[in-house]
Amino acid sequence: MKKIGMLVLKIMAGLAVIGVIALLFVNFRGVPSYEVNIPDNIKNVNVEVTPERVARGEKIALIMCNACHANGENRLVGKHIADLPAEFGKAYSLNITRDAEDGIGSWTDGEIIYFLKTGIKRTGQYAPIMPKFPRMADEDLKSVIAYLRSDRFPVQATKGAGHEQEPSFLLKVLTNTVMKPIEPITEPILVPDSTDKTAFGKYIANDLIACYGCHSGDFAKEDPLHPEKSFGFYGGGIKMPDLEGNIIPSANLTFDEETGISKKYTEEQFVQAVRLCKKPDGTLLRYPMQPHLTLTDYEVKAIYAYLKTVPKIRNNVNAQ
Ligand code: HEC
Ligand code: HEC
Repeated sequence: MKKIGMLVLKIMAGLAVIGVIALLFVNFRGVPSYEVNIPDNIKNVNVEVTPERVARGEKIALIMCNACHANGENRLVGKHIADLPAEFGKAYSLNITRDAEDGIGSWTDGEIIYFLKTGIKRTGQYAPIMPKFPRMADEDLKSVIAYLRSDRFPVQATKGAGHEQEPSFLLKVLTNTVMKPIEPITEPILVPDSTDKTAFGKYIANDLIACYGCHSGDFAKEDPLHPEKSFGFYGGGIKMPDLEGNIIPSANLTFDEETGISKKYTEEQFVQAVRLCKKPDGTLLRYPMQPHLTLTDYEVKAIYAYLKTVPKIRNNVNAQ
């Protein structure tokens, strides 16, 4: 018996030493880098900048990029991400203006698309905090690039080297274990025809804006390649900080009669809520819900039509 006891003790001590070495290694290694392996059909993309694409790209960027990358003068030179929960450390968005040294003027179109899909930069560095856009349609990605290459004020070449990232130990552990880059989809991704209202709304909600990213049950159990498989899909309840550090639960957007939006919002009221953050009682929805001013009424109505088809979840987000 005694011998077995000693053996167990020795094994446990050994495991503890291995554990400490692993943790030291992770802390030293930091956020890992990856091999840059851009598939040919992404690498060879060469976006023609047309006025239509710039307009579409600007509309998308105003919802998806500018708030995180714009400084006080509305130039996309990057800044401290103030509402990142402190346990992840500090993150800084970077200069994505056309400047060739400080911005992304020297990145190829393929390198930008690969980064937006996977989170892997042309240097191999992985960006854990920057959102990824793995299911955005090819034409929409091209439009975002056309905007980034355009003469619009926010992206005009501007100096300003970005700040180093300051990942916490927890973020280093996560990126060395469960948080990984996303495999790029290489098959064509098309924007559904807008006359198919439900499919069109589904694309905007899930693939373009990723409303489920905030409106599901757990950040850690989301599936960006198959959004519908995310835990608590559109049932809400993720607790997120506003800019003052107050904790706000995301709303249940399913059509559950008691806890969802079916009785709370008519289609018209939903449009007001999503476009202007206006609630039916006239008060405003709180940050981090943001107004989506550049979405048209039709686009928001299409999201409403799609949400009707999502399996209902009974979840009173204010009761938790
Ligand atoms: C939640 C905030 C956030 C949003 C939204 C966001 N970004 Fe970023 N972005 C970041 C952060 C943080 C980094 C730095 C990543 C790193 O180095 O780990 C970054 C880095 C980048 C880089 C790499 C720059 C470099 O020099 O390495 C590009 C390109 C970029 N973002 C483009 C975009 C585009 C285009 C959009 C919209 C489609 C967007 N970002 C939306 C936060 C954001
Ligand atoms: C960054 C996270 C985030 C994203 C992205 C987001 N929301 Fe929200 N949303 C919230 C939060 C948090 C609330 C709760 C606000 C409050 O209680 O004041 C909310 C509230 C709402 C409400 C009000 C529901 C109610 O019960 O009163 C609607 C409607 C809504 N969001 C729709 C959307 C749609 C549609 C999208 C995508 C186009 C979207 N949201 C994207 C965080 C987000």
